[in-house]
Amino acid sequence: MYICNDFCEKLRHMNSGNTARGSFGSQLGVILASAGSAVGLGNIWRFPTEVGKGGGAAFILIYLGFIFLLAMPVMISEFVIGRSARSNAIGAFQKLAPKKPWIAAGIMGVLGGFLVLSFYSVVAGWTLHYTIQSALGQLQGPLTTDNGQQPTDFGAAFNAFVSDPWQPILYLAVFLLLTHLVVARGIQHGIERYSKLMMPMLLAIIVLLVAFSLTMPGAGEGIRFLLKPDLSEVTPDVVLGAMGQAFFSLSVGLGCLVTYASYFSHETRLVKSAMNVCIIDTMVAVLSGFIIFPTVFSVGIAPDAGPGLVFITLPNVFLLSFSEMPIVGYAFSLLFYILLLLAALTSSISMHEICTAFISEHFSHSRRKAAAIVTFICLVLGSFCSLSFGPWKEVTLFGRGFFDLFDYTVTKFLMPLGGLLITLFVGWYLDRKLVEQQLTNEGSIPVRTMKPLLFLIRWVAPIGILVIFLNELFPLFL
Ligand code: ALA
Repeated sequence: MYICNDFCEKLRHMNSGNTARGSFGSQLGVILASAGSAVGLGNIWRFPTEVGKGGGAAFILIYLGFIFLLAMPVMISEFVIGRSARSNAIGAFQKLAPKKPWIAAGIMGVLGGFLVLSFYSVVAGWTLHYTIQSALGQLQGPLTTDNGQQPTDFGAAFNAFVSDPWQPILYLAVFLLLTHLVVARGIQHGIERYSKLMMPMLLAIIVLLVAFSLTMPGAGEGIRFLLKPDLSEVTPDVVLGAMGQAFFSLSVGLGCLVTYASYFSHETRLVKSAMNVCIIDTMVAVLSGFIIFPTVFSVGIAPDAGPGLVFITLPNVFLLSFSEMPIVGYAFSLLFYILLLLAALTSSISMHEICTAFISEHFSHSRRKAAAIVTFICLVLGSFCSLSFGPWKEVTLFGRGFFDLFDYTVTKFLMPLGGLLITLFVGWYLDRKLVEQQLTNEGSIPVRTMKPLLFLIRWVAPIGILVIFLNELFPLFL
């Protein structure tokens, strides 16, 4: 059993008066909520396209290395901070390092939470629109000019939709409202309950779509594209891209998991939970590749990157692949957009929670009021992002439109810097006894990998992150 020192006793005392905070009710809830935070739009469209660009299986191997050597140590560090402090992302640093500049990591996290939720919800709103279109059969328009009909131009339809001043904002508002309703209900009745409902649905849809996709004629070419290890494509940029993807995909560096871990029980095994989350997240990412590439290749369309893949290429592909069996095409496309929507929702809930927990605890507001404030702020910021695809296309700040600016600030700046500070904080600042106590649940479970784990947290992760960060700031660095 570890002996608690003075600081750790003080912390225990502070936390014992903290009974009003919610907590997860089960280990399954912990895993599914944390995996929900990780599994998102990043897994379903960003990962497959990065794999395609980065040499197939070669990229996957590099990515796996970064997940386990770099992003997982950050995740475990966030868990240690959150559970020992039992506070929101900013409050946790205030509690563990009173009056020290480490609070900057928490402030960046909460700021990042607002920014991600704002731009992420815009894309999630588009997904909601496509889910509805798909359900109404409106993605099944004619493909050819037979019978004098105009062929469906999905590219033009997408551009017209995103540049409309009102429609995308309406969908953004509905999506934010859905996120709000879950967060406002609290930890067990909101986040845990809906994660337990949505994550199994998401996993079931993935398995179903992979099965569908692998039976497509010509699926083999897509699988080869995804899995062929083409080392000639592996450049320093691809390696750095894999690091960035690992980071974004696990939602680490923003204090999201600090906040979730503050609701973990004493029994939650931090290392095991982090491993499970990494495995689920990677599995979803790889399986998404198995949904997208065999389908895209079966109709001979070049896989596009980013929003174009999901909102322009895929509707075309669904239509072409299933022209003989429109009902199957209908089911495939509807399930795909529902999958995307569920993934976006489970991630946006965790971003909302970073901000709601902070506002509620710092300003002593009720959870409902805090959640309403967050939703309102993100609706305003998200509307700016949405308008940057239409009427505000020319409005720029630091040379970027609002959507790009938010995306850039978070993924290239706040996440890596936050991750760096978090690992340095746990690896070098926090009392070693406190860290070991958290990792071993006060000595009750053996962590055989303690030494290598601490080595990853103290050395490997900070150095790796620093490399990405410097490269983002000074692209000529590597
Ligand atoms: N981790 C979330 C994603 O992959 C943000 O989309």
